[in-house]
Amino acid sequence: MNKLQTNWTDHWGFARDFGLDGEERIATERYTSPEIYQQEKDKLFRKTWLAVARVSEIPEPGDYIKRKILTLDAEVVIVRDKKDGVIRAFYNACPHRGVALVRECGGQTGVFVCPYHGWSFKTDGKLLGIPGSENFPQIDRKQTGLAPVHCDIWNGYIFLNFDEEPRQTLAEYLGELGELYAELPFADYRHAVDIIQDAPTNWKNFLDAFNEGYHVAVLHAKSLPALATKENPLNHMYDQAFMAPHSHATIQSNPDYRPAGKVEQLVFRAIGEGALNKSGGGDGSPPARPFGTARGVNRIGLPSTSSELINVFPLSQFHPTALGYMWFQFWPLSHERVRFATRVYFASKPRSYRDKFVEVFMCTKHRDVVSEDVAMTHVQQIGMKSGGLKHINIGEMEPLVRFTHGQIQEYLNRQDPC
Ligand code: FES
Ligand SMILES: [Fe+2]
Repeated sequence: MNKLQTNWTDHWGFARDFGLDGEERIATERYTSPEIYQQEKDKLFRKTWLAVARVSEIPEPGDYIKRKILTLDAEVVIVRDKKDGVIRAFYNACPHRGVALVRECGGQTGVFVCPYHGWSFKTDGKLLGIPGSENFPQIDRKQTGLAPVHCDIWNGYIFLNFDEEPRQTLAEYLGELGELYAELPFADYRHAVDIIQDAPTNWKNFLDAFNEGYHVAVLHAKSLPALATKENPLNHMYDQAFMAPHSHATIQSNPDYRPAGKVEQLVFRAIGEGALNKSGGGDGSPPARPFGTARGVNRIGLPSTSSELINVFPLSQFHPTALGYMWFQFWPLSHERVRFATRVYFASKPRSYRDKFVEVFMCTKHRDVVSEDVAMTHVQQIGMKSGGLKHINIGEMEPLVRFTHGQIQEYLNRQDPC
């Protein structure tokens, strides 16, 4: 399957061979209907493995974090067991009368104690104590722990699955993509900055924008001038490949691009000299391994790349870059609202004013570019809601969009009970 080439014209043929079985027309209803959104919640988001955190967020036994999964109206406690060190996840709901057991964002404990009537639970979720337990003759202590959420790990990432009985393990679900990127050095990048942006649009409008480069030369003409090349002026992605339901691509950059502004020149020079990326963790740890030479990244050997796009279906993307990597999360909040959470990872905290400046510049730049997507996908939603437009048209150079919609439909078409 992986015939690799860098010539865009050849590549287009390659993408056509592998990516155009999906849909060239997509009904606008899929973006505007509350009923279809409800189906997505029941049949897609509740049935797939969702990346929610990194193992490094709870390194010690007894460490825990709370996560709100707004898409599924769920709150979850993820905890590394005090005794066996295993990471488990539980609904944040006390089995006495439903109170959210954990109110803080995270911490360290050996016991969870409910703030309402004082029921207590071990970090493996088992019931520990009930004040006045003689008044609960119906309680089978072995059966009355915290309700678990399926939880598994891939390359340092904690995934949850809200299905009662997932049809695949996480390893089966990630399949070929999981194997290809199993050794990406995510763990070497330990300093993160969060950028959260809400967009008043359907989540698929937002995801579509991150599955094609076609709009970059127009919408991001001023904010992202460094990508277009003479050979591929419309920024179509290279090596677009499908590992159902996941996918990936390689995104070019222009090696001849030279920033005109003094500030950007300073940042470019600093990056070239290894700002934020070559100095290790500052605690004697070795420098972070670069993504550029990692297995699965830039398989076609493009001479100059911006990032690798790794789509972990349906709500996450990972973007390794020269500076670190970004984790994009697309959390639907309703049929016409999505929370776009970017976590930008660097090898280490800034250790100089120059490094801090580079970090702030890169994050601000990202926020500004995404703000353009927020504005554009908002007016896109307005156009779709007008009722006059029955379908939209997806081009041959947008195969990731077609493919992903095909995968979503496959989940919605499944007949198994939800
Ligand atoms: S609701 Fe938790 S102890 Fe009563
Ligand atoms: Fe964009």
